[in-house]
Amino acid sequence: MEKKNLDWANLGFGYMKADYRFVSNFKNGAWDEGVLTDDDKVVITECAGVLHYCQSCFEGLKAYTTEDGHVVTFRPDLNAKRMEDSCRRLEMPVFPAERFVEAVVETVKANLAWVPPYGSGATLYIRPYMFGSSAVIGVKPAEEYQFRILVTPVGPYFKGGAKPITIRVTDYDRAAPHGTGHIKAGLNYAMSLYPIMDAHRQGYAENMYLDSATRTKVEETGGANFIFITKDGKLVTPKSDSILPSITRRSLLHVAEHYLGMEVEEREVLLSEVSDFAEAGLCGTAAVISPIGKIVDHGKDICLPSGMENMGPVLTKLYDTLTGIQMGRIEAPEGWIKKIA
Ligand code: PLP
Ligand code: COI
Repeated sequence: MEKKNLDWANLGFGYMKADYRFVSNFKNGAWDEGVLTDDDKVVITECAGVLHYCQSCFEGLKAYTTEDGHVVTFRPDLNAKRMEDSCRRLEMPVFPAERFVEAVVETVKANLAWVPPYGSGATLYIRPYMFGSSAVIGVKPAEEYQFRILVTPVGPYFKGGAKPITIRVTDYDRAAPHGTGHIKAGLNYAMSLYPIMDAHRQGYAENMYLDSATRTKVEETGGANFIFITKDGKLVTPKSDSILPSITRRSLLHVAEHYLGMEVEEREVLLSEVSDFAEAGLCGTAAVISPIGKIVDHGKDICLPSGMENMGPVLTKLYDTLTGIQMGRIEAPEGWIKKIA
């Protein structure tokens, strides 16, 4: 199979139309078999539930070319499970987990020419998503849904790759207690667009959201969880019911503990203790691990000792081990790697 002629090493995190996508429709209480199609257009009624009441959710995972030339994906069963949770909370029908994983595999297989080569620094981003496709005018769930998977080759989420970023503490809230912060609902991202653009206009790469009830605890950013390294080398990550349970973060906790012999703590993290950490980073499928050099809290700079030049030593070890597992250089825990080709 011949690869597409792309400048793999210089891809940004953007959308590029690949050859095939997966589409399945939910009608009369059941999902159809689903097909791969070369048609990237979605045609729905002007009154579709997604267009008015934002009934949509999505997932994000990646396919990697391994050192020995295979194509694999990372823990797709956890994305399937998290999408089930999103669907339940949004009164949407669940797309069965086994079929979710099969559909991911099929979609990547159909687009192997788009999977970036090993060593290029790029990966194939896989975006499963679902939306209410039938008409609703009163506030209620749609009766029909579409589940789709698109893929697109991507480079680093933040410009500069592993260069530390500067973020700010924002006064906007991302999620309410007992709201939808713990699921991957499109609506969570719609409301983050103004704060992120405002952050960019002020020169920050991202927002640090605090818990909206007390505004004292660190939650997450618009698209990634936080991880912190203490001065004595412990991994600390915020525990909250209103953040997205990141698969990368859950994997990093395992890697830290079982591969690197580190102590790990998932607990409430106060904004007031952030200045005591040695290293800080964002973690997620898109972000992988992005180091944070500085956090600006209403004019006060919190400078991480790891600095603005390079990722700190502990995050680097975590990054190397996680990506080593994903790219087949390091043996993965049982069940983490799904071989596609
Ligand atoms: N938090 C938010 C709000 C996200 O959108 C994402 C991305 O999926 C993450 C965290 C990281 O989650 P994961 O590691 O499963 O990609
Ligand atoms: C991901 O990391 O997969 C995300 O969905 C984050 C962002 C692109 C919204």
